[in-house]
Amino acid sequence: MDQTENSALEDQIELLFPIPLMRSPKLLSPKLSEAAIAAIRAEKVETNLRSEQLFHTTVTNPLDSNLFKEIAAVAVPKLVDFGFMLFGERFNWTVKEMWTNMLEPGGSQTMHCHANSFISGIYYLTPSHPGSRTVFIRPPGGFEYNFRHHTREAAMGPFNAGKYMVPAAEPGDLVLFPSYLYHEVPKNQGDQRITIAFNAIPDRLNCWGYEIKFSA
Ligand SMILES: [Fe+2]
Repeated sequence: MDQTENSALEDQIELLFPIPLMRSPKLLSPKLSEAAIAAIRAEKVETNLRSEQLFHTTVTNPLDSNLFKEIAAVAVPKLVDFGFMLFGERFNWTVKEMWTNMLEPGGSQTMHCHANSFISGIYYLTPSHPGSRTVFIRPPGGFEYNFRHHTREAAMGPFNAGKYMVPAAEPGDLVLFPSYLYHEVPKNQGDQRITIAFNAIPDRLNCWGYEIKFSA
């Protein structure tokens, strides 16, 4: 093979062991989104422990309401698809808990992940200010170099970035991510931002007879 033939072959990059995140644009109909906003605004709220401008509705389990049950049901086919990416099998998924977040101007959500859950999701009901979109954080304590090159000049991509900011989300958009993935919401520089978050579990994992069942 001469040099001309070699240069025609393209380099191949493999994405080794990546973490999936799924965005489903406009999954929730405007009717359901608006009904949810009205229901959330009508509720009494409680302040988040870590940010005084972050409020959660006092409904301990929105899944008691038909409206929120319907919103959870809309996510289930997406959970099945996303779960297939994580486990290679189409499980029966259940949204086991759901809560609402009202982020007032100046409020933020500190870095956290969701325990006792496999897939977590966020429905965006209102537009987010560009500076207060959800930010996902590269898992800390990995097996990577303890050197960084996060400079203004450095080209950032999935292999070197420490953070990933969700692109502009429209009302009705859903984002699914593995529950272990840390995330945060920077200080809200825009108007009130309303989201619904939830955790989901499969009914069981069965690996060569070593079976674990989960129930909500
Ligand atoms: Fe969260």
